[in-house]
Amino acid sequence: MTAELIDGKAFAEAVRHRVRDRVAALHAQTGQAPGLAVVLVGHDAASEVYVRSKGKQAVQAGMKSFTHCLPVDTPEDELLGLIRRLNDDPLVHGILVQLPLPAHLDARQVINTISPAKDVDGFHTSNVGMVGTGQDAIVPCTPLGCMMMLRHYHDDFRGKTALVIGHSNIVGKPMARLLLNADCTVMVAHKSSTNIPELARLADILVVAAGVPGLVKADWIKPGATVIDVGINRIPAPELGEGKHRLVGDVDFESARQVAGAITPVPGGVGPMTIACLLANTLSAFCHLHDLSVDPLLLDEQDPT
Ligand code: GUN
Repeated sequence: MTAELIDGKAFAEAVRHRVRDRVAALHAQTGQAPGLAVVLVGHDAASEVYVRSKGKQAVQAGMKSFTHCLPVDTPEDELLGLIRRLNDDPLVHGILVQLPLPAHLDARQVINTISPAKDVDGFHTSNVGMVGTGQDAIVPCTPLGCMMMLRHYHDDFRGKTALVIGHSNIVGKPMARLLLNADCTVMVAHKSSTNIPELARLADILVVAAGVPGLVKADWIKPGATVIDVGINRIPAPELGEGKHRLVGDVDFESARQVAGAITPVPGGVGPMTIACLLANTLSAFCHLHDLSVDPLLLDEQDPT
């Protein structure tokens, strides 16, 4: 069997298209546009790329974009002061502080200073608790994107078994909670787990967010399983020339695609969905803050295609 390739670019375009249309309609109706504020502290190269892309895509969706780049040694009270001003700013509907933060800043304190209604990352303890108890709340972007793509292949998660590899607060834990909320049978493995290959072979759905290039081998995969690879690892690629690198996921893609039923490539799988879902969350936050109805297709982790 050769797996169907899950085209994250096409899914992301479908989400962006829906967001763009709805933003245009809301602008015509209210004269206002959703505003997304992104805060970057320091000069992490990867974070700078992500932040630029978030601002650019927000503008392309018809939103207002506010980017705040702060020096690496910004004191915590200054950062918290900026967040409080953004909480009070009526032009701002979504606030995102790019992670990781420099070590002197307490990320939990910073995130929990963002108003939960504007926390478009879904990282505030209040949103985490709401999602954990199955209530409507802002859902973290990467797991939301994974759920939308999984919905395309599974209209019903009941009776299905999933393994999530990785238990980060950004991906693994919220991913497991969303699958559980959909009545999937969910296992979570992480760096202290000793039997991951055996657990993986039970899984109809395998979501891998471990940050270990090529961790998942073909013989870990149940034939026909849906495999979502969240990993983005930059590895040396001397075959492309001296000093060259390439991106690979956490799944050994070439072997895994011979066994899986459907699989995301890296790049071009989960990656493009993260920012598309950030735009969807910003639109939802705008609607909630203005007492407007939210597009249910964007809310319920539906298949956007
Ligand atoms: N760093 C890596 N991924 C993310 C994300 O989804 N949101 C934020 N704020 N920072 C990140």
